[in-house]
Amino acid sequence: MFRKVIQWIFLAPSETEEFTIEPVIRYIGGKKVAVVRNDEGIYAFEDRCPHNGFELSRGKCTADGKAIVCPLHRFAFDLKTGRALTQGGVMRTFPVELREDGWYIGFERTEWGWFKS
Ligand code: FES
Repeated sequence: MFRKVIQWIFLAPSETEEFTIEPVIRYIGGKKVAVVRNDEGIYAFEDRCPHNGFELSRGKCTADGKAIVCPLHRFAFDLKTGRALTQGGVMRTFPVELREDGWYIGFERTEWGWFKS
């Protein structure tokens, strides 16, 4: 039986000031991830535009800090949901969680296993 699990990987200490509204690239879990921070929290997404594959990290966040704008065709994607605000598809987002010892990023993977009791 296949099941989906989230593998949490340490991203940064809780007091980090590394992340701002300007995207920062991190290589985590074999993925190139862009990370930004706005007034509501830290958001992580795949550094690949769903429209045509351009690097979203080369874009800028909207004035309200809630979406990233791809520099190639100017499509904007919601940081929370990944959905395009107008057109362009859905960018892949990753959950980010603050724990006692810092910020963690989650990667979903499929795992095979027998039924558990
Ligand atoms: S490649 Fe990003 S909007 Fe077209």
